[in-house]
Amino acid sequence: MTKLDKNFLWGGALAANQFEGGYDQGGKGLSVHDVMTAGEHGKAREITETIEDDKFYPNHDGIDFYNRYKEDIALFGEMGLKCLRTSIAWTRIFPNGDETEPNEEGLQFYDNIIDELLKYNIEPVLTLSHFEMPLHLAREYGGFRNRKVVDYFVRFAETVFNRYKDKVKYWMTFNEINNQMDTSNPIFLWTNSGVTLAEDEDPEEVLYQVAHNELIASALAVSKGKEINSDFIIGNMISHVPIYPYSCNPNDIMEAEIANRLRFFFPDVQVRGYYPGYALKMFEKNGYDIKWQEGDDEILKNGTVEYIAFSYYMSTVVKHDEVTSVEDNVVNGGLPNSVKNPYIKESQWGWAIDPVGLRYTLNVLYNRYQLPLFIVENGFGTTDEFKEDGTIDDQERIDYLREHIKASIQAVDEDGVDLMGYTPWGIIDIVSFTTGEMKKRYGLIHVDRDNEGNGTLKRTKKNSFYWFNNVIKTNGEEL
Ligand code: BG6
Repeated sequence: MTKLDKNFLWGGALAANQFEGGYDQGGKGLSVHDVMTAGEHGKAREITETIEDDKFYPNHDGIDFYNRYKEDIALFGEMGLKCLRTSIAWTRIFPNGDETEPNEEGLQFYDNIIDELLKYNIEPVLTLSHFEMPLHLAREYGGFRNRKVVDYFVRFAETVFNRYKDKVKYWMTFNEINNQMDTSNPIFLWTNSGVTLAEDEDPEEVLYQVAHNELIASALAVSKGKEINSDFIIGNMISHVPIYPYSCNPNDIMEAEIANRLRFFFPDVQVRGYYPGYALKMFEKNGYDIKWQEGDDEILKNGTVEYIAFSYYMSTVVKHDEVTSVEDNVVNGGLPNSVKNPYIKESQWGWAIDPVGLRYTLNVLYNRYQLPLFIVENGFGTTDEFKEDGTIDDQERIDYLREHIKASIQAVDEDGVDLMGYTPWGIIDIVSFTTGEMKKRYGLIHVDRDNEGNGTLKRTKKNSFYWFNNVIKTNGEEL
């Protein structure tokens, strides 16, 4: 008997906007990602008004999965994946977001993808919205500032739930819904909610209004989904970067406790169906006037999630008497008083490598919510080199994944956590979200494309491909 359940969902994770390409094919409309230029580590991506001829938008072509999906899914099958987490690009189904009828060509595209996955016994796990709001909803309606966008999202959710109800069981509503708590970096509110801040606005007050609308959208989608097919299993999706106290100084402990509310606010509502006391108190103290509609309490109560999907890449540390600029701390989770952890190494992109933090996270989330957990993103973004014989020996990536899988198995086997599955991020190389680069590679399959968009797009299996195949075959016994 293995330590993990025989139905453990080993898989891979992707997002439509980062790998599909075909941004103007099949009747697709523009999304918030289609106006984001390429950046790099230390250089932010620009969000342009429209598509400008002299700028490069890496998500437009992604890795051209749109035209190569058969080849890619065959590789996923060969790797032995039991599930694939990806998203449905909202703009393939409702190009502008406010249409009354969906785009049949877009729906057909996902029928093809899902059928192809099922052909290889790969279970589709679908994210409704992975930073893919129609640009029109962001520009003309102000994104989730506007309650009308809730209705448009629910229409989209209902359409895809109905269309794929007999083929797809696992769903999640919004990707990393809580990363927009960091309002210091415009990319998060923009990609999650289609929102930009005006200079005279209080970012926090805007954030909580947007959050409320999005929480309502998420809850309504859950209720609709369960109505359409009661066998659906619908979760939320959060980013979890645990915030450690710097020391046992009680002030550091309290600092971390308060800072962690940034991580927990969204899941607290999505799991419990009501607002936590700390948030209500903060609204009252700051005089925030968050607009609720009659019936919102009921909506939140009836639309709670059934499992928690989360991404885990790194941890961070806060010190109560440290004040550093937020810009310096973007990689540490965007906290103004975060400091480096002296016990932990970082990747080339400054992301702290902390496998024990994953076991800790699994415990914290399970103990707080008592719901099944699903690790739907984890991985090591780094450059890759071809060896002379044409292979890629990505031992560092294997080491990263191995240590994180070990930590997850410990959480199951020693701590009694209920874990549904593990899907490494970017199972095939894709465009990076935060930097728009190709060279920050997570894949177990290499794609020949560089930061400027040059390359043949040829796929090559890395050593990690064979390693992960064996991990899946042995249900995590051979790491
Ligand atoms: C998560 C996102 O934030 O992290 C993904 O859900 C993203 O979309 C991943 O790609 C890794 O981040 P990056 O910036 O290294 O691509």
